[in-house]
Amino acid sequence: MTHHRAPDHRELLRFITCGSVDDGKSTLIGRLLYDSQLIFEDTLAAITKDSRKHGTTGDDIDLALLVDGLEAERQQGITIDVAYRFFQTPGRAFIVADTPGHEQYTRNMATGASSASLAVILIDARKGVLTQTRRHSYICSLLGIRDIVVAVNKIDLVNFDEDTFDRIVGDYVTFASELGFRCIVPVPISARFGDNVSTPSGNMPWYHGPTLIQHLEHVDVAQDLAVRPFRFPVQWVNRPNLDFRGFAGTIASGRVAPGDQVVVAASGKTSRIARIVTADGDLPVAEAGQAVTLTLEDEVDVARGDILVHTADRPPVADQFAAHLIWMDEEAMLPGRSYLMRIGNIWTPCSITSIRHRVDVNTLEEHAARRLSLNEIGFCNFSAGQPIPIDSYEDNRTTGAFILVDRFTNRTAAAGMVAYPLRRASNIHHEHFTVDKAARAALVGNKPMVLWFTGLSGSGKSTIANIVEQALHRAGRQTYSLDGDNIRHGLCRDLGFTAADRVENIRRVGEVAKLFVDAGVIVLASFISPFRAERRMVRDLLAEGEFLEVFVDTPIEDCIKRDPKGLYAKAKAGEIKNFTGIDSPYEPPEAPELHLLTAGSTAEESANAVLEQLRARGIAC
Ligand code: ADX
Repeated sequence: MTHHRAPDHRELLRFITCGSVDDGKSTLIGRLLYDSQLIFEDTLAAITKDSRKHGTTGDDIDLALLVDGLEAERQQGITIDVAYRFFQTPGRAFIVADTPGHEQYTRNMATGASSASLAVILIDARKGVLTQTRRHSYICSLLGIRDIVVAVNKIDLVNFDEDTFDRIVGDYVTFASELGFRCIVPVPISARFGDNVSTPSGNMPWYHGPTLIQHLEHVDVAQDLAVRPFRFPVQWVNRPNLDFRGFAGTIASGRVAPGDQVVVAASGKTSRIARIVTADGDLPVAEAGQAVTLTLEDEVDVARGDILVHTADRPPVADQFAAHLIWMDEEAMLPGRSYLMRIGNIWTPCSITSIRHRVDVNTLEEHAARRLSLNEIGFCNFSAGQPIPIDSYEDNRTTGAFILVDRFTNRTAAAGMVAYPLRRASNIHHEHFTVDKAARAALVGNKPMVLWFTGLSGSGKSTIANIVEQALHRAGRQTYSLDGDNIRHGLCRDLGFTAADRVENIRRVGEVAKLFVDAGVIVLASFISPFRAERRMVRDLLAEGEFLEVFVDTPIEDCIKRDPKGLYAKAKAGEIKNFTGIDSPYEPPEAPELHLLTAGSTAEESANAVLEQLRARGIAC
């Protein structure tokens, strides 16, 4: 009698199918579901009996996992067309991620591949290895898939020809040699007629390998996560009463036992594991994949987002690192812009400091780039708002993965795979000076802050700022004006007016403004600063109440009429490109501290409104 193992949690194989409709992908998935359904019904009774005997929750677990995958994406706000299909055979349960194969859906494929441990790459026997085969394989490799099945499909249409099969396999293996796959298994199939899918084909006596299903049932994709370094991202701190303080989460890798010496990766605080608590009682040991609550012997500071690791095996901690990035947002990524990064359970502001190269996913060539658009992949340097433990994605697909979220739309903008920490900043420490901002401000009797004038070119920003500064100066306040036209002759002389350059312009100006505030000065900054994200970034650089956003709201018709520098005329004539309000956007502030409607009022009246605000904030002027 054959023994059917219950398809429990451990046996589950998540895989992805890559290929286009033309390659027969839908047919293959249909075939897998259809064939397995027969098997399933055939052995349903046996499986159910076995499940009961072994006390597993069989279907329940698997279905939950299926739903999990979808839920995680919904929470991250990705609207992606990835269907996860569940099926099982006597040997194993499967979840297959079915993603649209069309060129523009790199992000869909990436989403499907990120949770898969194996990929079935479909190749049409008549066409052989194509550009898209390379693209799919590269993305799989980038997302940490190490096991590949090359399914050479439609083999019936080439008369089940062995040479054709061998040639395609040879081509594939040659090209894939640099992608770091652990195992490439080629199978000649006909999804349409079922040859070598779940039943061995009589049409190819030359083929002695397994059927696709046989291989999927037996392949060992275990990543040996349990023997890797111990990583426990704390999901929440469980403190039901004063006597109990536990840290709940899922072990991402490694094993842990009571008595183990552990350390909070980022802070370096050490302790020992006291207990491993679960709903079914304490455990003597727990390993990767298990959800547990850990208690420590000492009262150390541990918060949601921290990672507990073994003292003997700590990850480097850095606030700068290099990583691959798959851009998933319609709005292009701009270096210097601030995004929210979620890595593990940590949320922190993060920006791309430089794009080292963009990868052409079709040729795998590396190109210089100044931005990344939808579905583009780049290798970039990052700067995070706080030091974080850095595991490479290659070592750990959980702790080495992150997402970037757009701060305004809350959309998931990118998926990232950490490569390595950058030492540059790790060896630079903050020097502490005794004379600080408060001392400097007190000396000159000032309340330092930034008055940030934003608005279209010719809206009157500089004119109003000029009047305000004179009044402050007369009142004995120390001031400094930062102005677009002036700064662009010096500090920002290398920048133009592309979106990327404007982001960098405001980033630099923000840092300079912050230094002036630190020096105890009131800064008047007049920049078009057309993007909300960068105005927000400057606001975040400063303390509460130190940033006063003044929206100089002048209708574009008035700006065009005034045209003090004759630039609108040139822009309209097409002589200047990317001119704000003409062929480059302006995003008006949503909640400025001061909204100046300049139509119908003089510059003096507008300036007075600003001075009024300053007085209300305790600045004598
Ligand atoms: S910002 O967009 O990066 O904030 P900034 O305020 O520094 O711009 O500089 C704007 C000034 O540069 C304008 O007042 C105008 O005199 C000049 N300028 C030249 N070309 C452009 C352009 N394409 N768009 C906007 N301003 C331009």
